[in-house]
Amino acid sequence: MGFALRVMWRGAARLNLQNMTKLDRTKIARRATGKTALVTGGASGIGRATVERLAYEGANVVIADLQTALANELRAELKAQGFDGISVSTCDVSDEQQVIAAVETATRAYGGLDILVNVAGVSSPSRQSATDMDLQAFKRVMAVNLQGTFLCIQHSLPIMISRQFGRIVNVTSTAALMTSNRTTPAYSSSKAAIAGLTRQLVYGYSRFGITSNSVCPGHIKTPLSLRLGKESLQARERTIPMGRIGEPEDVAAAIAFLSSDEASFITGQMLVIDGGQTSVINYGERDA
Ligand SMILES: NC(=O)c1ccc[n+]([C@@H]2O[C@H](COP(=O)([O-])OP(=O)(O)OC[C@H]3O[C@@H](n4cnc5c(N)ncnc54)[C@H](O)[C@@H]3O)[C@@H](O)[C@H]2O)c1
Repeated sequence: MGFALRVMWRGAARLNLQNMTKLDRTKIARRATGKTALVTGGASGIGRATVERLAYEGANVVIADLQTALANELRAELKAQGFDGISVSTCDVSDEQQVIAAVETATRAYGGLDILVNVAGVSSPSRQSATDMDLQAFKRVMAVNLQGTFLCIQHSLPIMISRQFGRIVNVTSTAALMTSNRTTPAYSSSKAAIAGLTRQLVYGYSRFGITSNSVCPGHIKTPLSLRLGKESLQARERTIPMGRIGEPEDVAAAIAFLSSDEASFITGQMLVIDGGQTSVINYGERDA
């Protein structure tokens, strides 16, 4: 293929891919009708897109997040679109009592809980190596990312067992698989541990119809990643075979599938959503 043609083709592919990620809710199958979901970190980024997606699929959704105002805004936006089954629970997932309260919001408002999506996550200041990582910062990342995920699972499982149905989807990161100068020991190990926890649940809970999977996003356009700045994001884009940073909706679509009846025989898996980044060795050339 000649240079000009290659450039045109890439441009068209980019446009196409960007359009594909736009959320057209009229085209979304209502696979979650009658189900209730709890989405932690649901006020922003990937969590927000997941709340919208599951609402469009017909679920009642509890948004469990520290950012109550933002979560209420999302609830109001969805209500204006005709979605009444959205609740907000102010929740720090690292705090067991607040997690219990969030789960109770689901049971009180909607009579149960079928889908748990653990999205809430934090990172510590980047470029901290193991030798200069502050222990308190390490513990905080672990408390939110790993302990928070564990607590939500622990308090949701009894309800799922009683219903003989459950979908657990945890958000990890490609930082669990590979590293960079931006990834910290706390973030990488918390995300790798979530993948292990996800698999471990298969042993005890599959017989109750409960599946446990994780999604593993690469670079996704959210407030968390936009903090990196334009230049840094463009440099990352060049390492992604699909030629773009992912949209929160790309991850939400995978979460919705893993939360659906269609995924009833998929459990213990980690689905990487990274535009191909972890599949290639990048030599600094786009077409490598
Ligand atoms: N954006 C990316 O490129 C990317 C890549 C891989 C993995 N992830 C993971 O995806 C998840 C969502 O990230 P995002 O990019 O959408 O970030 P974000 O900052 O936009 O959203 C994170 C949400 O989690 C909430 N939160 C933080 N701490 C909390 C706590 N203790 N209790 C309850 N809620 C809390 C925040 O208030 C926020 O609404 C995180 O787990 C992150 O590690 C993101």
